[in-house]
Amino acid sequence: MLAITGATGQLGHATIQALLPKVPPQEIVAVVRDPQKAAALSLLGVQVRQGDYNDPASFGAAFQGVDTVLLISTSETENELRIRQHRQAIDAAQQAGVRHVVYTSITNPSPDSRFAASPGHFATEQYLKASGLTYTILRNTLYLDIVPMLVGQDVLTSGKIYFAAGDGQVGFALRDEIGQVLANVLTTDGHDNQFYNIAPGPTYSFQDIAATLNEVTGQPVAYVPISGDDLAAGMRQHQVPEPMIALLQGMASAMQDSEFDLASPTFERLLGRRPTDLKTYLTTVYGK
Ligand SMILES: NC(=O)c1ccc[n+]([C@@H]2O[C@H](COP(=O)([O-])OP(=O)(O)OC[C@H]3O[C@@H](n4cnc5c(N)ncnc54)[C@H](OP(=O)(O)O)[C@@H]3O)[C@@H](O)[C@H]2O)c1
Repeated sequence: MLAITGATGQLGHATIQALLPKVPPQEIVAVVRDPQKAAALSLLGVQVRQGDYNDPASFGAAFQGVDTVLLISTSETENELRIRQHRQAIDAAQQAGVRHVVYTSITNPSPDSRFAASPGHFATEQYLKASGLTYTILRNTLYLDIVPMLVGQDVLTSGKIYFAAGDGQVGFALRDEIGQVLANVLTTDGHDNQFYNIAPGPTYSFQDIAATLNEVTGQPVAYVPISGDDLAAGMRQHQVPEPMIALLQGMASAMQDSEFDLASPTFERLLGRRPTDLKTYLTTVYGK
């Protein structure tokens, strides 16, 4: 039996949709903090069990009878709490007799990264590796799906992308395709104690993103590199919450530091076909 945490989140949803043609629904346990949000999964025959990262006992109960847990990283933004939530979930899996934990990490996780989520992923990887559980760690790059948010909703009217990534090259992967890769990993053998770079090439600078938007829409778009402080000030003007500002400012710094400048053939191998590239994605979102 497979259990998936964060099952009502977007990556959890994508993974379960990709699993359903491969696994009988009753063999899938969707671990959710609010079962009411998972009514559609119940109707499909998926087992829905309540589990909150802040309540380790609930995870312990949710993991009963489960062989493999897909631990989708929490969306909590406070770093110490993120790490505690992940450690408690790993402990709960171990105590419940789970054999294998598959964890969604980040590209180049590091305790020194300026991207606030990265040290927590690093600490979780270390903890999982030391736990004695069989592990598979997918180091996911940034979602292609966040590019419209990064370039800003006014990009086509202003013709400008104001962002603080410098000349950093960034790899992106479509969230649905990461879900398909996860489903493939969960349903095939040979992934015990492996680290996978879920980072399809090519990588792109924000100049490349601007040029691709120009190509796709026919409208002039230019990238204007700005400082991290100016990026934060702009988000404050738009009432973006402070934890999100810190996360995005740190993400931009990590892009400048080339943390997401990685292209690996592993993603295509695990997906079983060529991944969606930036131009195809932007054509879907912005094309006429
Ligand atoms: N690579 C990237 O570009 C990128 C971007 C964003 C996030 N991420 C990371 O990847 C993860 C999955 O991405 P996503 O797009 O699926 O994010 P998402 O849609 O925000 O889903 C996050 C999931 O975590 C669950 N969750 C949060 N706090 C919880 C708690 N205390 N107990 C139990 N469940 C809790 C949420 O539950 P509810 O459904 O009840 O809200 C949701 O199901 C995120 O959580 C984040 O760590 C990566």
